[in-house]
Amino acid sequence: MHYKVIFPKVLFPVALVRVPSRCFSGSRRNNYQVTVIGGAGGIGQPLSMLLKINRMITKLHICDIAKFIPGVAVDLSHIETPSVVKGFKSPEQLGDALEGADIVIMPAGVPRKPGMTRDDLFKINAGLVKSIMEQIAASAPKALVAIITNPVNSVVPIACETMKKAGVLDPNRIFGVTTLDTVRANTFIAEAKGLNPYEVKVPVIGGHSGVTIIPLISRTTPKVSFNEEEIKKLTVRIQEAGSEVVEAKAGAGSATLSMAYAGVRFANSLLRGLSGEKNVIESAYVMSQVTSLPYFATPLVLGKCGIEKNLGLGELNCFEKNLLDKAISVLKKNIDAGIEFANLPECKKEHMS
Ligand code: NAD
Ligand code: LMR
Repeated sequence: MHYKVIFPKVLFPVALVRVPSRCFSGSRRNNYQVTVIGGAGGIGQPLSMLLKINRMITKLHICDIAKFIPGVAVDLSHIETPSVVKGFKSPEQLGDALEGADIVIMPAGVPRKPGMTRDDLFKINAGLVKSIMEQIAASAPKALVAIITNPVNSVVPIACETMKKAGVLDPNRIFGVTTLDTVRANTFIAEAKGLNPYEVKVPVIGGHSGVTIIPLISRTTPKVSFNEEEIKKLTVRIQEAGSEVVEAKAGAGSATLSMAYAGVRFANSLLRGLSGEKNVIESAYVMSQVTSLPYFATPLVLGKCGIEKNLGLGELNCFEKNLLDKAISVLKKNIDAGIEFANLPECKKEHMS
């Protein structure tokens, strides 16, 4: 017996039904190892739970600095799916957790509190991402790395610079996870038009904070029409949706459950690409040449080695071109800060953090 996906958008097997094994084509690889770094956290725990019920994963390694990480692994291991879960304590066992990983997902790091911007997290999370990437460079240089940690706009350049320094950078394998922006855009536009959210697709490009998040509402499928005022309001809501959660949680953190969903949606797309499925498209913030900036989020075709093709910006209307102009100057500062940090001598880094 195997499990059949009956979730309408076929993202991952949320609803599990036992069906005979002949329902599955056996030709594609479906024995991947995923390592979650930050697996005991607000995102890490539900993310790991959703990964545990993914049929393509046979080994799930969860790693955290939290003392109770072995307990999270034991808890997950009781779920009646075949994948094997192991817990690892960071930093001592980080190398072991990474060994053999096809995909590394990183929700490690500090989240925002009300009144903070994502950039305020740079002080703590920049150094953390750098040291984790050094270990990834040593133990899993060929893994696809999906970085959730904020500020995404700056830590992805830090990650790439760190891999470059170690001589193992493959820009097609390092991703800043912006899927939550897409998920929110789909949800809000479906709500506004009374559509089934499973059917709505809104491309979101740029970066992952405030004005750098650029929803391309004009390219929504199915086609939707809004007046100018409505488009402005929806755009701002999508750009500020992270703060909507931070404020509603009133000091208890930022988005965790919707992020876990988005993280697993992204991981599942990476797995589908790795397994040879064609036309797997997902947006992410990556090293890029589609604008004047060295990093930018656009829709990507995912394949056996990560990014197979960058689909670029596509056509933007006047309103969206203005959003792009505003995003570029902010993104440039965020990217420069990341590159500068990654290349500072160790002693100076202490002063920055
Ligand atoms: P959290 O504090 O609940 O969990 C973070 C976990 O990381 C903790 O368990 C902590 O022990 C662990 N950790 C810290 N340093 C580590 C290290 N060096 N190695 C391994 N584990 C380590 O926070 P959260 O709510 O899960 O958020 C995590 C990060 O994700 C934050 O930076 C947050 O801003 C970001 N985030 C990003 C998005 C996005 O769309 N990309 C969405 C939501 C949150
Ligand atoms: C989000 O978009 O929810 C995350 O980036 C967390 C945050 O700080 O807003």
